[in-house]
Amino acid sequence: MRIIIFGTGYFGKALYQKLRCAHSVVGFASNYIKKGEDTLFGLPVLLPAEALRKQIYDAVVIASTTGAEDIFQQCLALGVPENQIITSYAHAPMESRRIYLKNLADMLNDCEQEASAAEAGVFQGEFAKWINQCFPNRVLHLFDTFQGFHPDEMKADKQRDFSTAQAHTYYADTSVELVMKKMPHPEQCRIHKGYFPESAAGLHEKFCFVNLDLDLYDPTYQGLWFFQDKMTDSGVILVHDYYSLYDAGEYKGVRAAVDRFLCEYMGDIRKYPIGDGYSVMLAGNWQALR
Ligand SMILES: C[S@@+](CC[C@H](N)C(=O)[O-])C[C@H]1O[C@@H](n2cnc3c(N)ncnc32)[C@H](O)[C@@H]1O
Repeated sequence: MRIIIFGTGYFGKALYQKLRCAHSVVGFASNYIKKGEDTLFGLPVLLPAEALRKQIYDAVVIASTTGAEDIFQQCLALGVPENQIITSYAHAPMESRRIYLKNLADMLNDCEQEASAAEAGVFQGEFAKWINQCFPNRVLHLFDTFQGFHPDEMKADKQRDFSTAQAHTYYADTSVELVMKKMPHPEQCRIHKGYFPESAAGLHEKFCFVNLDLDLYDPTYQGLWFFQDKMTDSGVILVHDYYSLYDAGEYKGVRAAVDRFLCEYMGDIRKYPIGDGYSVMLAGNWQALR
């Protein structure tokens, strides 16, 4: 099958390596093409409309997790028939994370009565809506700028060679309204718009589940320290992007932040993979240091 891979980030690169033996990859499509990056693995990187016009292909494979739905709609609008758009690779990690969350929530809802849930790094609320669904009786705190990265935090990660993110506005295409419309239990949601963790100042409640999905080193490291003394006995902090296909990693700072935190934290907290290929779960005796 002749395929165009839509996405040139770490996911797109990894999918190329995975698919190139069984299929003929004819090129890449991307909405952001940096100067001098118009080829990848010797293949053309083109803007979507141009890629779809110039290339002869049988299918477009979406290589983006958070933007998969938008890309799917974009392909449809550009005239690609639905049965030629492959979304399964993009949806697989989210699906396994969702099953993990459901199973974990069933356990936590049995034993932790008075505690909240939180997500720092919400973007368009695709995972937040599942958290809200799985913890219907808990307050859900949602932290995001709703305007993309902090320019200084993004610059710092680029200087440390942690990130190849191209613009601090990369995640700006969202809003509080868009997120809130997706929530099955909006009355439980508390939006904290602004830079995390400053935006969490004054919050002193207990948490049984936290998802950190901030992509960058500084807010991830600070977020771990912010939540560590607020976790319940069996509380879990999930950190996305720890395993972000590390060799081609766009967000290597997350792993560095988690490992530094675990090194400095003197209590009995361990990290475990959850099987989605991205996230690490931190759990153990959060009470030990209190
Ligand atoms: C990968 S996206 C989150 C994706 C989301 N969890 C999901 O599953 O769909 C990362 C988000 O973190 C936000 N972010 C990064 N650093 C931040 C900070 N210091 N304060 C608040 N939001 C931040 C970005 O703006 C972006 O919306």
